[in-house]
Amino acid sequence: MVLQKLDRYAKALIKEAGTKIRHSFASELAIESKADANDLVTNIDKEIEQFFIKHIRTDYPEHLILGEEGFGDNLSTLDGYVWLLDPIDGTMNFIHQQRNFAISLGIYKDGVGVLGYIYDVMHDELYSSQKGSGAYLNDEPIPVLEPTTISEAIIGLNASWVIPNPYIENEGLIRLVKDARGIRSYGSAALELAYVATGRIDAYMSMRLSPWDIAGGAVIAEEVGAVATNLKGQKLQFLGQDTFLVARKSLHDSLLSNYISLK
Ligand code: IPD
Ligand code: CA
Ligand code: CA
Repeated sequence: MVLQKLDRYAKALIKEAGTKIRHSFASELAIESKADANDLVTNIDKEIEQFFIKHIRTDYPEHLILGEEGFGDNLSTLDGYVWLLDPIDGTMNFIHQQRNFAISLGIYKDGVGVLGYIYDVMHDELYSSQKGSGAYLNDEPIPVLEPTTISEAIIGLNASWVIPNPYIENEGLIRLVKDARGIRSYGSAALELAYVATGRIDAYMSMRLSPWDIAGGAVIAEEVGAVATNLKGQKLQFLGQDTFLVARKSLHDSLLSNYISLK
């Protein structure tokens, strides 16, 4: 009952935020760089995070918020209810393409993901799930994933991990590029998680993601039988950056044992 009410509330906020983002294209964006020249943020990323926080603070004052743009709380634990929010995941796509970005939100209770959302704003597609109740794309249930093999799989992988890099032995990923049916890179970790959950791709991995990129998607993916861990095969923790892998169970095992070797 509590979660149903929270679910309706979160969905309403997400939809309203999506409308604001679509309307934002009418005015000029203010674009800044963060950690490096290609790590972008806009006034809209910040406004949308503040929009969520203003409402959550009023309506659920005991809940805490971890947001990418830093307007929420400084957390050292995930005790109680915590909203893990990326107001725009795929900001580079938002700026350059005006599509292929999402609102990513997970609501966690004592460290366990209880509600997950990924909203593809431009397609008006809301992926959602409540732990234990299956996953949905808008109002349609998302079917549980069937097993597949590497040779029939499409893998979500950023090309920057296939060239020599400080994090992973790139020879293993070169083999994966050869062995898999196809490789895709969409530029939004949240959307790539949604695509794994709906079987549009079969796996997605990254060397470095933050809790707000994956918190919503992890709840959704688990409900359809996908496995999400870091690249050591360990349970996800949602307080800091880590490597990431989500895939159908059989692929997850095969990727970890045959293709992934961290430096
Ligand atoms: C980024 C996107 C991108 C992933 C980066 C993330 P942002 O999020 O999810 O696909 O490769 O690691 O930081 O900055 O657009 O919210
Ligand atoms: Ca992000
Ligand atoms: Ca973001």
